[in-house]
Amino acid sequence: MRILSGIQPSGALHLGNYFGMMRPAIELQEKGEAYYFIADYHSMTSLYDAAERRTNCLDVALDFLACGLDPKRTVFFRQSDVPEHCELTWLLGTVTPMALLEKCHSYKDKLAKGISFNFGLFAYPVLMAADILIYDSDLVPVGQDQKQHVEVTRDIAIKFNEQYGPTFVLPEPQIRSEVAKVPGTDGEKMSKSYGNTIEIFGEEKALRKKVMSLKMDSRTPQEPKPDADQNLAVQLLKLVAPAAVAQDFEDRLRAGGLGYGDLKKALFEHYWSYFADARKKRAELAANLDHVNAVLRDGAARARSKAREVLQRARRNCGLE
Ligand code: ADP
Ligand code: TRP
Repeated sequence: MRILSGIQPSGALHLGNYFGMMRPAIELQEKGEAYYFIADYHSMTSLYDAAERRTNCLDVALDFLACGLDPKRTVFFRQSDVPEHCELTWLLGTVTPMALLEKCHSYKDKLAKGISFNFGLFAYPVLMAADILIYDSDLVPVGQDQKQHVEVTRDIAIKFNEQYGPTFVLPEPQIRSEVAKVPGTDGEKMSKSYGNTIEIFGEEKALRKKVMSLKMDSRTPQEPKPDADQNLAVQLLKLVAPAAVAQDFEDRLRAGGLGYGDLKKALFEHYWSYFADARKKRAELAANLDHVNAVLRDGAARARSKAREVLQRARRNCGLE
């Protein structure tokens, strides 16, 4: 089984990225041949600072490796090191109905927000389809918000296969329902674009402040809270603390007598120790960037050899060779 996923280098990675996509992806490394990449071509639709893109790419590489991606087992690379993705995007674009792209939530949401549209942003799901199909991927671990893009990928693959004969493997999305939508500091979906993130790595004082600023209601500590399981800090605690500990806090909140401040303090401590090993590993990697760059170079060479094989199959089937 081949497993593939990508993440955009558009800023510091947060708990939503970690629990929604990175951890499932890291766990899946054991289950098959995994291909994980830094989607720097994708970042070009919304990030226009060259230096920032370069820094972000390196940061994502450090974050992913620190969190347990094993580059011996997994093919880990930067998307733009495999330009074959772009050629396949063109082939796929020619069988993609406009209507398929027009119905994408990500497109409609951005349109509704009045974001000025460029071709890249509109064509983004086709590039994502190429990312997936070019490795004959079977399984794509992503957060809920990317499910539709994997479905679009399947539709495009079916179209191409119908037109030119069997060429692409049809991928399945894999979404962990328990972490499909990690909430941010305001209770909405945690996302860089909402400014409500808690980063995986960063400066302790600033992150403590973020956790302590989680939005709570104005009920007094004494008041019993029958909706304790809905509490934002409890939901986050369930991700970073042992189940029994999180349950205990939830029960105490429900019964009344536990203040939100104490709950948030506990959340911070568990969150901070949850990533302690990864933090140490990240510091080691950051001190050895030659190693990190060598990992990405090696990953690119391995990815490219598979990508060339599938691209050639597609070129042949549609009469380019
Ligand atoms: P952001 O919304 O911060 O820009 P991305 O869209 O770059 O994050 O998401 C990268 C990956 O992380 C995707 O697979 C996405 O589904 C997942 N992800 C992002 N935010 C969350 C969240 N709050 N809960 C679960 N998964 C998430
Ligand atoms: N679009 C994804 C995101 O914004 C990143 C991505 C690009 C991706 N190509 C992919 C994810 C292929 C999975 C498979 O999060």
